[in-house]
Amino acid sequence: MHRILIIGATGTVGSQVVSQLSAAGVQVRAMARNPDAAGLPPQVEVVRGDLTVPATLDGCLDGIDTVFLVWVAPPATVAPALERIAKHARRIVFLSAPLKTAHPLFQQPNPARALGERIERLIEASGLQWTFLRPGMLAANARVWWAPQIRGGDVVRWPYLAVPTAPIDERDIAAVAVRALCEEGHAGAEYVITGPESLSQFEQVATIGRVIGRSLRIEEISPDEARREWLTIMPLSVVNMLLDAWAAATGQPAFVTSTVAEITGTPARTFREWATDHAAEFRA
Ligand SMILES: NC(=O)c1ccc[n+]([C@@H]2O[C@H](COP(=O)([O-])OP(=O)(O)OC[C@H]3O[C@@H](n4cnc5c(N)ncnc54)[C@H](OP(=O)(O)O)[C@@H]3O)[C@@H](O)[C@H]2O)c1
Repeated sequence: MHRILIIGATGTVGSQVVSQLSAAGVQVRAMARNPDAAGLPPQVEVVRGDLTVPATLDGCLDGIDTVFLVWVAPPATVAPALERIAKHARRIVFLSAPLKTAHPLFQQPNPARALGERIERLIEASGLQWTFLRPGMLAANARVWWAPQIRGGDVVRWPYLAVPTAPIDERDIAAVAVRALCEEGHAGAEYVITGPESLSQFEQVATIGRVIGRSLRIEEISPDEARREWLTIMPLSVVNMLLDAWAAATGQPAFVTSTVAEITGTPARTFREWATDHAAEFRA
């Protein structure tokens, strides 16, 4: 029986990992910076911890042998945090990105990529048994990118509308994570996880419109317009990461894998299914 700690348990992917493990009757501990606001199922043990203060990990890791790690914290404490994890745990499943996939969407240099590579190198050298999950674009980005515009009116302004991606549902990433956390046979595996179909960004917005029964006007804006507008709501490194990735991927079909079906036995959900299940978030 694995004793599993989820780091990033309140986030998009981690919260799904927690609920799927709990639903399967697996005992799980969640780390959160603010346990009172974690909003996790009542049977889940929630312990306070912060990746930027590595000493707080010791209490979270006590009695744990398997860790699911999401790292969105600043990079300064990566090495001491991983040292502590390696001292307690035997196995780690790290939510990374398709860092080694030869598709231009995934090959542009940026600070997030450099951090992911550094974490992977440290994990590989740690003696932990590891599995790297490499999801492509998350379907859930639509909540951040398009929901505010769609809730506010019928016009969606966006750059690189023709660029296709294969959006992956966070529940499917979590389903692969659960297998890697609970089963043998995933050590050293690097799972590139995408949704089942290549869809342009235009088609993704149009899908949301159809699902919520609204006719949206989808307008292309230039990368410079996007950069100017987004700098008020996103850090420059994130704006550049997105614009560079789409620029490089222009004219290429999305990279699509069947990893979800291969690992879980169930095909990955379509973007339409994701949008249908999240329709309320796009309604005014
Ligand atoms: N979006 C994409 O298209 C995409 C694609 C490929 C890979 N990824 C990777 O996916 C990861 C993000 O996953 P996600 O979307 O599930 O994240 P998310 O929804 O942003 O959640 C982040 C989680 O990290 C926790 N966290 C933040 N700072 C922390 C700290 N200092 N100490 C401990 N926990 C901390 C947050 O917990 P609290 O705030 O509650 O403490 C939260 O649970 C990133 O590493 C990204 O590179 C994303």
